[in-house]
Amino acid sequence: MRDDFVTALDLGTSKTCVLLGRESEKGKGEILGVGLVSFSGLKKGVIIDLKKSIASIEKAVEEAERPKNLTAHSLFVNINGNHVKGINCQGTVEISNKNQEILKGDVDNSIQMAKASSISTDRQLIDGICQEYIVDSQGGIEKPIGMFGKKLEAKVFFVTGEKNPIHNVEKSISEAGFGLDAIHLGALASAESVLTEEEKGIGVLLLDLGAGTTEMAIYLNGVIKEISVLPLGGDHITNDLAIGLRVPLTESERLKKNYGWCLESLITDHKLEIPTVNSEGKSFYKVGLTSLAEIIEPRAEEIFFLSKQMLDRSGYANLIGAGVVLTGGTSLLKGIEQLGKKIFKMPVRIGKPRNIVEFEKTINSPIFSTAVGLLDYGLKKRREAGHRPRFSQNNPLVKCYKKVRKTFSDFF
Ligand SMILES: Nc1ncnc2c1ncn2[C@@H]1O[C@H](COP(=O)(O)OP(=O)(O)OP(=O)(O)O)[C@@H](O)[C@H]1O
Ligand SMILES: [Mg+2]
Repeated sequence: MRDDFVTALDLGTSKTCVLLGRESEKGKGEILGVGLVSFSGLKKGVIIDLKKSIASIEKAVEEAERPKNLTAHSLFVNINGNHVKGINCQGTVEISNKNQEILKGDVDNSIQMAKASSISTDRQLIDGICQEYIVDSQGGIEKPIGMFGKKLEAKVFFVTGEKNPIHNVEKSISEAGFGLDAIHLGALASAESVLTEEEKGIGVLLLDLGAGTTEMAIYLNGVIKEISVLPLGGDHITNDLAIGLRVPLTESERLKKNYGWCLESLITDHKLEIPTVNSEGKSFYKVGLTSLAEIIEPRAEEIFFLSKQMLDRSGYANLIGAGVVLTGGTSLLKGIEQLGKKIFKMPVRIGKPRNIVEFEKTINSPIFSTAVGLLDYGLKKRREAGHRPRFSQNNPLVKCYKKVRKTFSDFF
């Protein structure tokens, strides 16, 4: 059964994470390997250094393959960046069948019509999620095949992106010696791994607070309604701390993670003084928790204000009964839930990857939400397609093929 594993690649701004997993006997995902490297060649969710991103993929996959001596040959990858847009589309077809029974071809045609009417040629389709079908005037239909009707309308949410950033992701993967199974929007992967069906039903805003971006997704009635990517994240806070405290970025990152509060009013230990180091690693001066929070709070507020603006513009602000779910590494910032409640004025919780995989403790963190969601997506796709990998994992030919392919690509 080892042939059934899939490989998920989360190309993040701060890290490259690879998960190898397969379907367990209980029907959940089972993690077979984790690879995590602290570089990726990305800025604000898009590749800016191809060599670095290729090296990060190679290293993270190798790390994930090692424990079970597996060989990955194709990957499911996320896409991010504020070039990504979501659009609600509709496509209608008359049912051509004589007895007016809806066939698979009619459904495919209605989706094609929706696509043709709304996606410009300079953009690449990433995901298409059907929200509902309307047969004649009856809406809310999930599976129209076999039903009778004169007219079929598909309401589809399409995710598109600019071609070049997507080509850079494709190229990094192929230069690293892997095939590409599918590209999936990071926000959708995170949403699948942290949101409950109930939250998606009564309405929820997911915010994946990453290093270079804040990815947003709104769900209502169980389906995706809106997505957006803000080119702002935890790096923004780290940079401001480095400038404000006159310390190197590595030091401001350490101070933020270990002592950073994003709501000054929650600090109880005002007397605590934290020693800092300068760029030579030498003892610098001591800084209080309040001084740290005075820099962090406005930056975190800014991220939430911009997210709230997007929510208000979407028209769903009064419809999301479950409130806001925060995930991604920046959701680990102390006081973030309380700051979120203050700004959104609705329930806020932190979302970790749910029980869709039987995982080791190491990935039970909001940092792994996208990777776990991608793995779940990959397993689902593989199930739907009844797909089997082309090579057996331990076949030495696979490793050889990858090496040869890489050697050739180094020449051109
Ligand atoms: N304990 C912590 N407290 C505060 N911030 C943290 C903590 N741990 C990680 N972070 C921050 O989380 C961010 C990384 O999160 P994540 O791994 O979700 O981002 P990413 O996926 O690499 O980036 P993006 O999704 O924007 O491309 C960094 O800015 C890091 O400083
Ligand atoms: Mg991310």
